[in-house]
Amino acid sequence: MLQNPERYTITAALPYTNGPIHIGHLAGVYVPADIYSRYLRLQGRDVLFVCGSDEHGVAISMKAKKEGITPQEVIDKYDGIIRKSFADFGIAFDNYSRTSLPVHHETASEFFKKLYDNGDFIEEVTEQLYDAKANQFLADRFVMGTCPKCGNEEAYGDQCEKCGSTLNATDLINPKSTITGETPVLKSTKHWFLPLDRYDAFLREWILEGHKNDWKPNVYGQVKSWIDGGLEPRAVTRDLDWGIDVPVEGAEGKKLYVWFDAPIGYISSTKEWAAREGKDWEPYWKNENTKLVHFIGKDNIVFHCVIFPAMLKAEGSYILPENVPANEFLNLEGNKLSTSKNWAVWLHEYLEEFPDQQDVLRYALTSNAPETKDNDFTWKDFQARNNNELVAIFGNFINRVVVLTNKYYNGIVPTPNELTEVDEQTLAELQAYPEVISSSIERYRFREALGEMMNAARLGNKYLADEEPWKVIKDNPERVQTQMYVALQIAAALSSLCEPFLPFTAAKLKRILNVTSSAVEMNWKAISESSDLLSAGHQIGQAELLFAKIEDEAIQKQIDKLEATKTANQAENKKVEAQKDLIQYEDFAKMDLRVGTIIEAEKMPKANKLLVLKVDTGIDVRTIVSGIAESFKPEDIIGKRVTVLVNLAPRALRGVESQGMILMTNNAEGKLVFVNPDTDGVGNGETIN
Ligand code: 2FM
Ligand code: ZN
Repeated sequence: MLQNPERYTITAALPYTNGPIHIGHLAGVYVPADIYSRYLRLQGRDVLFVCGSDEHGVAISMKAKKEGITPQEVIDKYDGIIRKSFADFGIAFDNYSRTSLPVHHETASEFFKKLYDNGDFIEEVTEQLYDAKANQFLADRFVMGTCPKCGNEEAYGDQCEKCGSTLNATDLINPKSTITGETPVLKSTKHWFLPLDRYDAFLREWILEGHKNDWKPNVYGQVKSWIDGGLEPRAVTRDLDWGIDVPVEGAEGKKLYVWFDAPIGYISSTKEWAAREGKDWEPYWKNENTKLVHFIGKDNIVFHCVIFPAMLKAEGSYILPENVPANEFLNLEGNKLSTSKNWAVWLHEYLEEFPDQQDVLRYALTSNAPETKDNDFTWKDFQARNNNELVAIFGNFINRVVVLTNKYYNGIVPTPNELTEVDEQTLAELQAYPEVISSSIERYRFREALGEMMNAARLGNKYLADEEPWKVIKDNPERVQTQMYVALQIAAALSSLCEPFLPFTAAKLKRILNVTSSAVEMNWKAISESSDLLSAGHQIGQAELLFAKIEDEAIQKQIDKLEATKTANQAENKKVEAQKDLIQYEDFAKMDLRVGTIIEAEKMPKANKLLVLKVDTGIDVRTIVSGIAESFKPEDIIGKRVTVLVNLAPRALRGVESQGMILMTNNAEGKLVFVNPDTDGVGNGETIN
């Protein structure tokens, strides 16, 4: 581990420009990366924080096809929207680049060429999935099918979002083209593969041994299972028409795989920054005393911890990441955030509803950040965090301090008299906060760090509530001078301690306290060493509310909006499935369908989904195991008339033989319901044909 880095290169995952960004992106990647960078800058460290738009790959082409516009139009549109969202939320990149820029095309091409010239690739003709109708090879998001690892039927050609496995398109079971819906055929094509297996020993030593104790368990665990699962060569080129040309002979019409070029985007972004600022980019990527940290979501772990490091190692002149503090996912009101289902809080829409309240969202997302497990964002929690914490603690404390200072002393910091034990202790506690907060941030525990920052505000709130200067003023105005002096020191410290988390609030508070000029020393070192941050005689400004209460109506409006999305999605889901291939009457006649009645039902022990039913089929009373336990309680379905396929070959489920199948369908809400024909007066065993 690098002990005293000379400089820091901090990267945040390049977002795909195929849609705007939402709270999940902010919570998982950009807010933590921004907190970390802002904190380091406040400590006076040399920090470079880079990001940019990820503008290649199938996600962009698909969006263009869907909207009937060119990929260039897609990336221009979303690059603009995303850039604005980041700026609006105070994500203070030193540079935000684009992978469509020439500097990136050149950097990625050179990188590929160097590995190619070194003989680091395997060149091979293999059979790949091909959509004959669309005349196109299928990879990545152009193909969907069943994940061979977990059975998810909606896995993509490069990744299963359910179990997180990284896949090759040819691994998918029942692949289907997402362009035409056709089943693809296999067709030969030449590609270049990065032989990850050659990096097995390096990765084991560097990560599994070297970073056992400092990488987050979720990251370490995922990497370990990937390496232990056996590393295989991975194609780094694609047959596509959107992307960076493969810069070698015999590769005409082929492009670099987006996951080959995207992480190189961090380097190109650095180059763009250096050219603009007149700096040298190389130390930020090639000097051993530089600490490189990648902020990403958990779906990007393998690419940043295995594939990109293998590329950097192969290239030979680059440093490797010191840490990759990936987060888990944020859900929204109990459901997975989804761009395609519009299940999201979009940043640009949030600001329309809650103008100037960026810090409230930053606060709510950090308080509930998915650092160790998936977490849920709810509007009620958002409201409670604002009203009960930001308004009631932080805002209330600052307001009292500023109002009273103006009222008693015309806004001039009073000269303190003798400090009591409580004063001394309060100031000592305050001086400990920079260290406590730093320690959490340095270990990527941003929730904990934010909690400590709020404890500093609590310290101030409690001090005023206990000391009650508004009462003491009548009999002992000298004592109040000291009380207000102490409270003002806490307010001043907070204006800097909150800066990494709540940059807009910090700026406002500094303005109110009139400490924006560089003449006033307010760095964290000063806070921990001095108890005279705001000296007697300093003039502060007028009170302004730091935070405003959020009313129930505003929250209900957001909840209603999500409900409307849910309803719209249900209507969309009701779209009728395409008809299956034709069958002959003889095929149908083979099925023996009967009317029956459920006469007993009980839960299958240790199985969440299964019910064991006794069904009177008219022919006999038989056992049928049915996967409906999540939709029905056993006691509610006894006596239910049902349609039974009675001649389905028996099969054992959890050791119980199931002798038939009960026909089910889905209602508009996607819930299971029985297919029970109008059976009044129809006896059990009556045939259905
Ligand atoms: O998952 C994503 O959204 C990718 N666009 C992240 C790329 S990160 C980096 F490698 F560029
Ligand atoms: Zn899977």
